[in-house]
Amino acid sequence: MASFLVSWSITSTSLAKQSHFAKRNPRLRVSCEKNQTEISHENFDRRNLLLGMGGLYGSSNLLSISPALATPIEAPDFTKCSRGTNLSTGQPLDVNCCPPLSREIIDYKLPPVTRMRFRPAAHLATAEYIEKFETAVELMKALPDDDPRSFMQQANVHCAYCNLTHEQVGASDLRIQIHNCWLFFPWHRWYLYFYERILGKLIDDPTFGLPFWNWDNPEGMFMPAMFANSYSPLYDARRNVYHLPPAIADLSYSGKDAKHPSKIIPHNLTLMYREMIRHARHLEDFYGAKYSTGSKPNPGPGTVERGSHTAIHSWVGEATRTGEDMGNFYSSARDTLFFSHHANIDRLWTVWQDFRGPKAKHFTDSDWLNTTFLFYDENARLVRVKVGDTMDHIKMGYDFQKVDIPWQKKKPRAHWKKSKVASTSGAPSADSIFPIKLDKVIKVLVPRPKKSRSKRDKENEEELLVIEGIDVDTATFVKFDVFVNDEDDDPYVLDKAEYAGSYSQLPHKNSSRVKTKIRLGLTELLEDLDCEDDEYILVTLVPKAGGDDITIGGIKIIYVS
Ligand code: C2O
Repeated sequence: MASFLVSWSITSTSLAKQSHFAKRNPRLRVSCEKNQTEISHENFDRRNLLLGMGGLYGSSNLLSISPALATPIEAPDFTKCSRGTNLSTGQPLDVNCCPPLSREIIDYKLPPVTRMRFRPAAHLATAEYIEKFETAVELMKALPDDDPRSFMQQANVHCAYCNLTHEQVGASDLRIQIHNCWLFFPWHRWYLYFYERILGKLIDDPTFGLPFWNWDNPEGMFMPAMFANSYSPLYDARRNVYHLPPAIADLSYSGKDAKHPSKIIPHNLTLMYREMIRHARHLEDFYGAKYSTGSKPNPGPGTVERGSHTAIHSWVGEATRTGEDMGNFYSSARDTLFFSHHANIDRLWTVWQDFRGPKAKHFTDSDWLNTTFLFYDENARLVRVKVGDTMDHIKMGYDFQKVDIPWQKKKPRAHWKKSKVASTSGAPSADSIFPIKLDKVIKVLVPRPKKSRSKRDKENEEELLVIEGIDVDTATFVKFDVFVNDEDDDPYVLDKAEYAGSYSQLPHKNSSRVKTKIRLGLTELLEDLDCEDDEYILVTLVPKAGGDDITIGGIKIIYVS
């Protein structure tokens, strides 16, 4: 066991250069005292590498870490892309989505906006627009396979960034995953940005914008007709045939059709309220958890990503275990509907920002703002882009058709007020049962560290239910729902205050176990249930898909200002 002292100045380049050391010394352990840190291979991150390297290569054993050490995810080195391995079988994946290489990388500057691109709601699009869009997609499909702008290469861009094929620069043991973390919104914004410009260039229309699938509005809650026409280049045969129009899109879809079809619309509207308002008061909850160099995949998805976003993907994809095309990350962008689905997610990001008023609309953490990715632009040049440049879609040169926001006031109603179910349930307490497998419904009492909070307290601090150590296999579709003080005990009625939210995950081609977490806002929910003076809440966890494969590490209540 080596022992190094730690001093306080280092650059991230020295770290990146030396990361091979970690591979050769997987058992490296550095133990230090006082302002020294214990480093172990179990918890290997870039900062740890840095410490180890400084100790070995520095002129003295004295090395220190700047507390503000920047470790944003860096644009991947395409030459290091590899097909990836199924981590549970050790076998290489049967899909290779690595991008073509380019000799040159250009740092992308947003071009001055001379003419705005206009993104219409798909269900309102004119015949003329649809024709244009179809022509553009047809031309994209006709590009040679090795053109980075071709339909398949563009679909592979998504596959590569989500299927653990790109190495993390500076932490070569880890691979990049842009889902289930704070990169979800900005990465997809850049992806659509170039996709749209490629299509626009192919039809020589600098105002062309992608149509958005307005699935959060009852008027748009079905697969847009242009995608369901089997003669159109927008059509994809690998979809769930029962979900073609006029089926209503189910934003709580869990792999099975809704028990109460007449409730899909009210369920969808209250779900949108929860994702966009009730549970999305903190940046981390809306955007997803921090993910920087050295992070393992899936630190925690934001409300929209794990909810309506995942539901639409799996609702559209084939009704099979692997759900191609839309229901599986590696194949989802082979369906043009993917881009309209994500254009709506991109629009919801702008809606959420508008709701914020003077409150912070995005992180100021440089690890987020300085994250970079590589894409091919409309001229087939490989460009390096920054998260920090996605803050304003107007500066990026596009805008959305204005549509109603019908869920803004759809607060779910309480079925039981002042319920005594927590005190009468006889359920075990949260400190005694975890970790636990979610192969059946679990009821658990969760203590509230603070009760009877004043209006002021509640304004200052949000009460959050944290479900952590959610251990899942990334190759499977999983979903569970969370209820609080639910006396009805009917897990198929979701437009009620007692339904707090869900965790769900789309399958990937690669299989690896990840540990993730979700946070659900309780302040408003407990007000609605009128149980703010209670010491405990009764939490019911209901597995809806793949429960055999989910283990929950723990549940607790925290307060966040
Ligand atoms: Cu990158 Cu909807 O997924």
